[in-house]
Amino acid sequence: AAAGSGARAGHENWSSRSAFILAAVGSAVGLGNMWRFPAEAGENGGGAFVLFYIFCVLLIGLPVLLSEVLIGRHGQANAPESVRRLARDSKASEGWSVLASMGVFAAFLILSFYCVVGGWVVYYIGVFASDLFQTGLSGGAFQGRDPEEIKALMPGLFADGTLMAGLNLGFLGVTMFFVARGVSSGIEWVAVYLMPLFFVLFLAITIYGAFTGNFAEAVAYLFTFDFSKLTGEVMLAAVGQAFFSLSLGVAGMMTYGAYANRDTNLGETSGIIAGADTAVALLAGLAIFPIVFAAGLSTNAGPGLMFESLPIAFQQMPFGSAIGLAFFVMIFFAALTSSVSLLEAPTAYVFEKFKLARPVATIIVGAGAAVLGVLSALSFNDLAEFYPLGFIPLFAETNFFDTLDGVTAKLFMPIGAILTCIFVGWIADARLIDSENGLDGALHKLWRALVRFVCPIVLAVILFVGLTS
Ligand code: PHE
Repeated sequence: AAAGSGARAGHENWSSRSAFILAAVGSAVGLGNMWRFPAEAGENGGGAFVLFYIFCVLLIGLPVLLSEVLIGRHGQANAPESVRRLARDSKASEGWSVLASMGVFAAFLILSFYCVVGGWVVYYIGVFASDLFQTGLSGGAFQGRDPEEIKALMPGLFADGTLMAGLNLGFLGVTMFFVARGVSSGIEWVAVYLMPLFFVLFLAITIYGAFTGNFAEAVAYLFTFDFSKLTGEVMLAAVGQAFFSLSLGVAGMMTYGAYANRDTNLGETSGIIAGADTAVALLAGLAIFPIVFAAGLSTNAGPGLMFESLPIAFQQMPFGSAIGLAFFVMIFFAALTSSVSLLEAPTAYVFEKFKLARPVATIIVGAGAAVLGVLSALSFNDLAEFYPLGFIPLFAETNFFDTLDGVTAKLFMPIGAILTCIFVGWIADARLIDSENGLDGALHKLWRALVRFVCPIVLAVILFVGLTS
């Protein structure tokens, strides 16, 4: 049945289905896969976390992902407007658009601190590039330097507020450049050129890790399922990670769905996006842990795993500086395609809502993110004692960066996703939903049951535990 709205005047679309897939995979694959996933797996006991993570992607992440792109594709507009249109076509209250307004705001907040971490990546590109220049191709990185000195690189960066703020603004500036250029010549361009490059580098590094590192130990670590390690905390971390990695709960996937053509099968496409994202996360573990094990470093270094441990590992490996450089360039590509989607969600909202030119809206949103980003960058040094929500017990002694991370992961993402499930599962006209999702038979029934019952209930538990623990 006709689902109503087709493409509207002035509204851009992806030039092909593969462009849509690359852009959405680009959004999903990012620091979440390469930096957060291995760190979370390492801190939460390896195999137990990994298996439960896969389970979360299939039962919760994928159904929500399909719900989000579906809302966007039906509406063919920025996220809040898309929800409003689906609500109107379903004769439901247009107030539901608040779920997407929250998401747009959350995307803006995440963008601001995501670019700070993007700045760290740029810093390490510089570190390895200059090392390669000095020591040449063969041999390990940082020859003749003490491992303690390499480990001190990150604290050194953290202590330098000006450098960190500058790198953050640089990363944000590059992001803004591509978003300002629009869907086909900006967002799609980055995805179509950078994602294939990412995959080439990624495969090369995984193979390199497998041959030069301790691959067997990494496989055993990531895929040995030990039931006793599956605690409530581990499960919570896994769901949160699945959501972050699939870019859910923040209107980003709604915004990208809005540029999809009517003939794109959304069920199938969502499956491809989730499958690719999960494969990259698992392979990232298989690329990073062999190197970590071979160097005899600890797995639970948390956020420092990629930035502190890996550079030390590269010191002991053949072609260390070249591989290190390739590694951080690859992370940069992945992070950029994600930050572009984080900026696009609020930008599309601002320029459609206030009838502005796209570049103007990009500058407005980017300027806001720059201010918050600098505060986040400074929370590692000059503003370390500034606790913006310190009066709330949950955020006591939490600096600016961690507050934004916590507020988005613990509040905005679960609430946005719960409301999305309720809206798609219970409120919106079932015939409209059925005509959009591209699923039939048993799969359709399964998806509907997951969206109506399983996802909201599990997410409500997550929300509760996240707020009380
Ligand atoms: N999924 C991205 C990553 O893994 C982060 C992201 C979250 C992007 C939410 C967009 C929206 O790095």
